[in-house]
Formats: sequence, C-alpha cells, structure tokens
Amino acid sequence: MAKKTPRAAAPRADSNDEREPRAVGGELQVEDAGLERSLRPKSLDDYVGQTKHKENLRVFVEASRRRSEPLDHLLFSGPPGLGKTTLAQILANEMGVELHMTNGPVVEHKGALAGLLTKLGRNDILFIDEIHRLNPVVEESLYPAMEDYRIDVMTGDGAFASSIQIPIQPFTLIGATTRTGLLTAPLFSRFGHIMRLDFYPEEDLAKIVLRSAGLLAVEIVPAAALAVAKRSRGTPRIANRLLRRVRDFADVIGTGKVDEAIVAKACERLDIDSAGFDEMDRRLLRIIIVDYDGGPVGVETLAAALGEPRDTIEDVYEPYLLQQGYLGRTPRGRVATRRAYEHLKVPFAGAPAAKQKALFEEE
Ligand SMILES: Nc1ncnc2c1ncn2[C@@H]1O[C@H](COP(=O)(O)OP(=O)(O)O)[C@@H](O)[C@H]1O
Ligand SMILES: [Mg+2]
Repeated sequence: MAKKTPRAAAPRADSNDEREPRAVGGELQVEDAGLERSLRPKSLDDYVGQTKHKENLRVFVEASRRRSEPLDHLLFSGPPGLGKTTLAQILANEMGVELHMTNGPVVEHKGALAGLLTKLGRNDILFIDEIHRLNPVVEESLYPAMEDYRIDVMTGDGAFASSIQIPIQPFTLIGATTRTGLLTAPLFSRFGHIMRLDFYPEEDLAKIVLRSAGLLAVEIVPAAALAVAKRSRGTPRIANRLLRRVRDFADVIGTGKVDEAIVAKACERLDIDSAGFDEMDRRLLRIIIVDYDGGPVGVETLAAALGEPRDTIEDVYEPYLLQQGYLGRTPRGRVATRRAYEHLKVPFAGAPAAKQKALFEEE
C-alpha cells in the first residue's frame, strides 16, 4: 500500500535534474560538500556577521553552561546557504555537547524519532534540518519530548491499549527551515528562540571570502574579494563557491593571483552579471516584465514558465530579488519594480505608480 505523506510531497529545492548546477544558487550542491567542511567556522568568533544573533547566542550559551542546562530549543530560518547548519555545529562546540543531525523527511515514523531521542546524551543537540517537512505524526510525538523530555509510546490494541512514558535526557532541539511560515503553530510555539538569518551585507561577505581564501591558500586582493562578495547574492555558500570558480580561472588563464580583472572575466564566462544574477534570475524577471507586462504574476505561473518547482522559486530565487527590491510581492502575485527594468535595460513604461501603489495596498 502506498504510504500517505500528507505534507512532505513538495520536491526538494536542492535535488534537481541533470542540468548544470547554478553557480549562484544558494542550495547545497554535491561539489560543495567537501569544501564546506573545510571552510565551516568552528566557533562564534569565527562566524562572520549576523552580529545581533551571535551576541544573543553567546549569552544563551554562557547562561546554560553555568546552570549545566541545555540551551532552549532554537529555530533558525532563512534561505539556503546563510549558515543555519553552521550555527548548529558551532553551538554544539561551544556547549561542549554532541550534535546529532537529521533531516525532516528522513524521520519517517515515530519509532525513528524515538530512536534518535533515546540516543541523546545529557544536554546534547538534536538538529533537524528542513523541520517543516516532518511527517505530522512524527511532529506530534516531538512535542512531549520538547516540553517534558519524554516520549509517549502506545502499547497493545483496542481495550488493552495504554501509553507508557519513556524519559529522555534533557536536550536542545535546533530546527532549520527556509521559511518560518511553513511550520505548524504548535511546533513553532515550542521554540524558545526564533532566529531569522538575513542576507549578508557585502562587507561581511568580503570578510568571508578573505577568510576562505586564507584557508584555501588562494592569493586574492581585497578589491577582488569585494567583487566576489557583490556577486554572491548575500549568501556565504555562494561566495565560497564563486571564490573557488574564480580561483580556477586565475590558475588557468591568469597568474594564480585573484584580482578584480580575473573576477570580472570569470563572471563573464559563467554568465553572472553585475548584480550576481545568472540566466535563471534574468529569465524570471524577463517573464514578468516582457510576458506579463510587469505583473502581477502568480507564483504558480512563474514556476510553470520557468520549469521549476514552486518551492524552488519561493525558497531559492525570490528571496534575494525581493530583499534587493527587484521584485515586489502583492496579493495577486509578483511584480517587477523599476529596478528590475533598469537592470534588464528595458524602458520602464510598465505599471504607472498609481497602479503599483494600489496593488501593494491590497496586501
Ligand atoms: N557567518 C558565516 N561566516 C563564515 N562562513 C559562513 C557563515 N555562514 C555560512 N558560512 C559558510 O557557508 C556555508 C554554508 O552554510 P550552511 O550553514 O551550510 O548554510 P545553511 O545550513 O543555512 O544552508 C558553510 O559551509 C560555511 O562555510
Ligand atoms: Mg543547512
């Protein structure tokens, strides 16, 4: 019998097809895996940017350590590649506890979750990536574990059914999700802290590029690090990937040293423009501007036109375009802003200001 998976049906943003992976996609790609391990910061001091969250986490860690208690349950949200998994690993290091990692859809049934929970040592961290994709039955059995450190197990059948409670060690649940809006209210409310990671400003990304270049023994001038940062869509994972691609060009067609000219050359060859957009981003904007007269266009329509799952549009492509003001979100769909027209060098004859304003006010 086919098993019903009520909410887990959405295709994964990062399990795509045979197409060449995007150089500027924030999602994890196969080639990143080894590189990420070597570049991942190990301590809060090493973690660049996100200062507000970092300082709060420092306090939480210190307080928990003093009381020998686990950290409160934490939820990290934000687009792929901004450092959610990294933070979970850092927190385990700083707390001196073990990190147990899993992924929402992988925990298929209550038994699997119970297996994970009973393995936890005192104050350990259980990290559940893509926590919004947990099976609802599994999610429900997580509640007593989060609240009272216990698992409820049903035994017997019918009239003989009874529930036994199995105590587990005090632990911290760290959940990661691309959007908090995808979580159910009961799960959401059980987290002590919710941290939304934002795209990184260029200066922070440039620091990350310089740090990574140091670790990879790549010679790079600061202006080139900034140039890589500018084209990395606010995302550390992309900055690291782009640095590696740029290094290839420096090694093969340059002198091995990364300067601004090499970055420009590499980006031109990789079809990454001055804003860090690739063909996919430009297509998305072009569809709205040219095919739909500036919008609004529903996200389903966009997904169909681009041949990508809706989730990928919402989690991977859109967030940066929205944050940077190339796209606007209205109740009737996405609209292209003047900035998008200017970027694509299309005269901004589109929606007059009044129409745009009316659209936004409906929200
Ligand atoms: N604040 C940061 N400082 C330095 N490097 C970072 C930072 N955030 C992320 N990275 C780098 O980006 C990569 C992707 O981060 P990751 O934690 O896997 O993102 P997410 O889990 O949010 O998708 C990591 O391997 C790490 O090298
Ligand atoms: Mg991750």
